[in-house]
Amino acid sequence: MIQENKNTESMEELFMTPRRSVVFIGSECYPFVKTGGLGDVMYALPRELAKQNCDVKVILPRYHCIPWEYQERMIYRGAFEMDLCADGRSFYVGIMEYVWDGVVYDFIDNDEFFGWGNPYTNLVDDIPKFCYFAKAALSALLYMDWIPNIIHCHDWQASLVPVYLRTLFENTELNSAKTILTIHNLRFQGIYNIPAIHYWSGLPDYVFNKDALKTGYEDANMMKGGLTYSNIITTVSGTYAGEIQTPYYGEGLDAHLRYHSGKLRGIVNGIDCGIWNPATDHLLYSTYDITNVLEKKRENKHGLQEELGLVQDDHKFVIGLVSRLTNQKGLDLLNAIIPEIMDEHTQLVVLGTGDDIYENSFRYYENAYKGNVCSNIMYDETRAHRIYAGADALLVPSQFEPCGLTQLIAMRYGTVPIVRETGGLRDTVEPYNMYYNTGNGFTFDNYDAGLLLDAINRAKTVYFTNRWCWDEMVQRDMDKDVSWESSARQYKDLYLELTW
Ligand code: ADP
Ligand code: GLC
Repeated sequence: MIQENKNTESMEELFMTPRRSVVFIGSECYPFVKTGGLGDVMYALPRELAKQNCDVKVILPRYHCIPWEYQERMIYRGAFEMDLCADGRSFYVGIMEYVWDGVVYDFIDNDEFFGWGNPYTNLVDDIPKFCYFAKAALSALLYMDWIPNIIHCHDWQASLVPVYLRTLFENTELNSAKTILTIHNLRFQGIYNIPAIHYWSGLPDYVFNKDALKTGYEDANMMKGGLTYSNIITTVSGTYAGEIQTPYYGEGLDAHLRYHSGKLRGIVNGIDCGIWNPATDHLLYSTYDITNVLEKKRENKHGLQEELGLVQDDHKFVIGLVSRLTNQKGLDLLNAIIPEIMDEHTQLVVLGTGDDIYENSFRYYENAYKGNVCSNIMYDETRAHRIYAGADALLVPSQFEPCGLTQLIAMRYGTVPIVRETGGLRDTVEPYNMYYNTGNGFTFDNYDAGLLLDAINRAKTVYFTNRWCWDEMVQRDMDKDVSWESSARQYKDLYLELTW
């Protein structure tokens, strides 16, 4: 009861901070379209900011693949023609609006760019698509006469927004807004030859210089331009903010980021604790909270084993992996050691899609260890929830990880993370300490398969020989605050600092 009053009070306090208007511009947002964590953040952070006295709008492309249940609820807000290319070629911009839980979603409608395929196809098509999107987002704000205090852009797909704002839009009312560019993943930057980006963006020649868009001899880099022109750069954890200033993690932009380090901050992500709540999650076999997790997790494990055709045995140590199957995620390390982790006490459940090499190797292992390895090569939200609840441990051995959400979700579901100490994984998972009985998971530092195997073996040892300590860790994980509240407050403080 006391706790409840305290929370209500602190929410009231947050709502008393001065109001600011902010527009989020990005290329995906759950539940409309999601390919990874960016979609989760674009959903959860605006909603939390709305609770903290922000007036929030989210601008997204109206992709053809957005489910019909949302498309049919959108309302036509207007349309206009917009000049885009260097030769003045113009394009239709429609605005379809959807208001939901205090957040206004405006979808930019244009069939030529968004009417086919997946959100991301190939650079030849994606470069024009996101030049168009960035300019259309600003034009739509002017059309709707909605002048925000803050324009908050996400990843390379929205990186031209700050560049347009301070060039082609500098004489508009929008120029009073401050801009933030958040890097969710520096590996993707939107690089293409200068003539193509120059033509499609219609931006003035002078932005194609080495301090802004130009990179190498003949390429333009959209992310690099955005970093130059934005007022503040953020990324999704403190450790990643430091790492990207080094050549190993900097993806060729480390010098540029060091130069701009004065305006670079790291704010760690949270998760939406409404969607990810084992106590109310209707997708689970059995809901649970911290008081009955130990018993109910067994029921979820059993349900998962049955659903996936695995040997049904409570005593097995079930390791989960929910991930895009790409280089970033450290899957070469895992592939190298699967034969060594697959003893008669262990099961492995993989959920993901991505590069053929990983999809095929996980299929191979499913076949080689029938009944104990299950490779779900698919994208499936329901199955993800059931893995988070039914597994004992979740692997995230990433080569680099700006923040990572799967370890946060795992902890919320009482599933112990086994992670590499990089980026947000390092900032959110405290290594288990057997002497003090503290920590939230098992970690390893260097990118090395042997060290991953060692971390898994340490986890197994505690699980099988010291269950009491394991169970306490499960409860500590469930007790950890992984919500958006405090991180959203840091974004709100940043908005206030920029607009004071
Ligand atoms: P990234 O954004 O690099 O892919 P994150 O850990 O930030 O990694 O976010 C991944 C998000 O995508 C999580 O919400 C995770 O549950 C979800 N996810 C990843 N792969 C799948 C899949 N195959 N099926 C369902 N959800 C998935
Ligand atoms: C990116 C990163 C991931 C992060 C997510 C949301 O896709 O790879 O680490 O959690 O964005 O910020």
